[in-house]
Amino acid sequence: MDLDLSHPSIEDLRKTARKRIPRFAFEYLDSATGRELGLQINRDALDAIGFMPSVLCGRTKADLQTTFLGQTYDLPFGIAPIGMAGLMWAGAERLLAQASVAHNIPFSLSSVAVASPEDVAPYIGQNGWFQHYPVNSGALRRAMLKRIKAAGFRTLIFTVDIPEESRRERQRRANLTVPPKADLRTIANMLVRPAWCLAHLREGIVPRMRFFDDYIPQRGRESFTHAGALIRGIPDWQYLHELREEWDGHLIVKGVLRPQDAKRMAEAGIDCIWVSNHSGRQFEAGPAVIDQLPKIREAVGPEVSLIYDSGVAWGLDVMRALAKGADFVMLGRAFQYAVAAFGARGIDHVIHILKTDIEANMSQLGAEKTSQLADYFLP
Ligand SMILES: Cc1cc2nc3c(=O)[nH]c(=O)nc-3n(C[C@H](O)[C@H](O)[C@H](O)COP(=O)(O)O)c2cc1C
Repeated sequence: MDLDLSHPSIEDLRKTARKRIPRFAFEYLDSATGRELGLQINRDALDAIGFMPSVLCGRTKADLQTTFLGQTYDLPFGIAPIGMAGLMWAGAERLLAQASVAHNIPFSLSSVAVASPEDVAPYIGQNGWFQHYPVNSGALRRAMLKRIKAAGFRTLIFTVDIPEESRRERQRRANLTVPPKADLRTIANMLVRPAWCLAHLREGIVPRMRFFDDYIPQRGRESFTHAGALIRGIPDWQYLHELREEWDGHLIVKGVLRPQDAKRMAEAGIDCIWVSNHSGRQFEAGPAVIDQLPKIREAVGPEVSLIYDSGVAWGLDVMRALAKGADFVMLGRAFQYAVAAFGARGIDHVIHILKTDIEANMSQLGAEKTSQLADYFLP
């Protein structure tokens, strides 16, 4: 199958993923909170950003190499952390880590992924970032940080936009509970997706949170009790200051929308602010994420790096975020749809879609460098 013809967009990959994975896994991946207004708010705001094309610029070639947090990547986008990625497709974390090195883009491992830091350590090269949720003791946090570092992760993402579980209605309708139920309906959901079942049998790993499991008394089903409610800590400024003291690599804070928060983080010595609303999964009545980027840039000044995510579905969206002040862009669902649809081949394909879309659109503008994109905004 020529994926360029059958699946020219991320939406095409999404549709195929939907047919390949059990309903509960798809709804977990695809849904947002409440009425899902957060998704539409982000989409509308991205679509509202236009550029003015320029002509007679000769043959331009977009230079997409991007130096970010001291490392040069081949593309200005990377892979965001996804909890339970290996549930959507067996071995997803390994496949994504391998692809990140092959394409030289960053790969983020969620602390609630199926794979542990050690599982993916052989595949991350220099490109692995690790995502951390607050835990309930300093000693536990320090033990985790030591382990993450030993596994080869040099960049830490501290996610702060999940103070509590959110209500995702589609997830509920799909019978997805925490901890998960192994009832007849769930089993039937799995059996109608034989390729997904086979992939799990081949991988030989029961989807569970392997990293968190190591820190709780009862393993397996219990560890799902939201990101291990058993070890969940309180996200506050004190926690952030302690983390900054303890982690000597790059520290990114993920899930920030309010400029005053970002300013305070910059003052606390944070290297990078990840501007995101978790793609509408946590709260649906906030601002469009893209509209916060320039405000946060103004609040933190030029020295602090900014990442954008939430709703990126085309290369053009990557350009929009870069033009609005992001230094780097991350995608969550797109990579998961791709791996669920076509495994490793799907990941290569989604990167190809994004890269060629950026190249085609930048040539329409006559732009060669992503740093020039803001010069092309519609007046
Ligand atoms: C199924 C799913 C699981 C996620 N799990 C995590 C997680 O464990 N940690 C985290 O920081 N963000 C998590 N996120 C948020 C993503 O990292 C990212 O912010 C978001 O998916 C970006 O929006 P996009 O999916 O529209 O690209 C998750 C998102 C999804 C869709």
